[in-house]
Formats: sequence, structure tokens, C-alpha cells
Amino acid sequence: MHTFKLNGQPVSVDVEDDMPLLWVLRDELGHTGTKFGCGVAACGACTVHIDGTAMRSCSIPVSFAAGKAVQTIESKDDPILKRLQAAWVAHQVPQCGYCQSGMLMAATALLRDKPQPTDADIDAAMTNICRCGTYQRVRAAIHTAASSASAQEKQA
Ligand code: FES
Ligand code: FES
Repeated sequence: MHTFKLNGQPVSVDVEDDMPLLWVLRDELGHTGTKFGCGVAACGACTVHIDGTAMRSCSIPVSFAAGKAVQTIESKDDPILKRLQAAWVAHQVPQCGYCQSGMLMAATALLRDKPQPTDADIDAAMTNICRCGTYQRVRAAIHTAASSASAQEKQA
């Protein structure tokens, strides 16, 4: 039995220790917002946060998550993720959309670490692969989310 927090709620799953966390999220817990792309930690479609760090859940055994906090695209109360989702809509970032939950989770971790990232910071952090080529819009949306945060801070 493996117990961890999923988007703030405790969950327990009775699966093999080496089942990939992505399998557990999608097949055991019904959280299908996290996507399967390559299965070898190369594309980033499966990115989630584990104790606040963006990680590729296709290549992490569920045993690693035991006792930790896992955050997925389904989480509702992350202000940075919400701001990024609004910027994603404003910039019409997604094309097919398949890579985008992983992109958003990677971008959320980036803005948590670096609230005002440079283009170079974004390029270094966003190693996710998008077969539709949305990289320019991803970068623009991250800048918009970062500047909307600083505007909110000035008003506060
Ligand atoms: S599916 Fe995990 S990195 Fe591609
Ligand atoms: S939007 Fe299609 S793979 Fe990124």
C-alpha cells in the first residue's frame, strides 16, 4: 500500500512498488489530466510536482511518492497555476493540447522559483516537447503570467 497526498487529499493505492506514478494517477486514481507521451522522461507530457519539484511521472515509481505531496494539473488552489492557465487562454497557446498540462506544470514550478524569469530562464526550464510547436506562445504566456503577478503585487 502506498499513501501520498494528491492535490492536498490523502490517497492510498495497493499496487506494485515499481508501478510508474503516471500509471497510478491515470489508471488507479482517474486523474487523466496528466498525459503519457514518450514513457522515457524525454517529452515532459507527464510532468507533475512532487513536494514542489516538477518531475516526469512516467519514470518515477509510485514508491518514490509515498509520504510526499503530488500536485497535478487537476489541482484547483494554486494561484500560479491559475494565473498561467489564464495567460494560456489569452495567448491561445494550445494547438492539439496534448503536451500542455505538462507545460503548465513545468511553468508553474518555474514561476515559483523565479517569479520574473528571463527568456533564457524560460528556455532552460521548459524542456518539454511540443509536436505542434507552441514554444513561442508558451514563452509569451509565461511572461504575461509573471507580469500579471507583479501588477497584482503593486495593487496590493
Ligand atoms: S511521458 Fe513522461 S516524459 Fe514523456
Ligand atoms: S500543443 Fe500539440 S503537442 Fe503541444
